[in-house]
Amino acid sequence: MKECLNLITERRSITFFDPTKEVPEEVIKEILEVSATAPSGYNIQPWEVIVVKDKEKKRRLKEICYGQQKVEDASANIVFIANTKAGFEHVDKVLDSWIDLGYVPAENRDMLREKILEGWKDKEKAKRKAIRDCAFFGMTVMIAARAYGLETHPMEGFDEEALKEFLSIDKDKIVIMVLAIGYKHPEKKLFPRAYRFKFEEFGKIV
Ligand SMILES: Cc1cc2nc3c(=O)[nH]c(=O)nc-3n(C[C@H](O)[C@H](O)[C@H](O)COP(=O)(O)O)c2cc1C
Repeated sequence: MKECLNLITERRSITFFDPTKEVPEEVIKEILEVSATAPSGYNIQPWEVIVVKDKEKKRRLKEICYGQQKVEDASANIVFIANTKAGFEHVDKVLDSWIDLGYVPAENRDMLREKILEGWKDKEKAKRKAIRDCAFFGMTVMIAARAYGLETHPMEGFDEEALKEFLSIDKDKIVIMVLAIGYKHPEKKLFPRAYRFKFEEFGKIV
């Protein structure tokens, strides 16, 4: 338990990455697959990623991220994309799996399909669902990365339009975050963690 808590509480947004240390592609893929066990509404998994690892492409991505140096220094950057059409695109695979595994009888398929898609027809609802689930996935990646001895830095500071054009991302999809991933620079020190609100400030038990 302590180990898991440490992975959470010792995570920081690492500003200084070691530009000389590479994370193998296989490790990044493994972290992403482990993290894809994150939960999602009706198991629709409305997330996609593009991993930017190539040096030249990282340089262009840095410009799109308003010059944030960590983008270039990190071994890679994972672009998290919320797919607002995932309900329609993934529903059949989800239902196949449920029926194969015996979660639901085959005769309930059409009724369930309709019920699941109901939540994806309205554009605003679909956006909220896709962003919410994609964010769970993103947080899981940050924690899983630490279990592999890696550090991360989430970023919302990017020009979404330019990023979509650069990576040919569909206009209906939403880029929720760029996540730098790599090893911390051994000589750079981070500031201590800044103030976190206490339970009494953000919660109540009723
Ligand atoms: C969705 C998201 C977007 C963020 N965007 C940026 C960013 O563009 N640039 C940056 O320097 N930090 C960014 N941060 C990092 C936060 O500033 C950082 O998480 C916060 O100050 C707490 O620090 P800690 O993560 O080290 O605990 C972002 C964090 C999140 C979760």
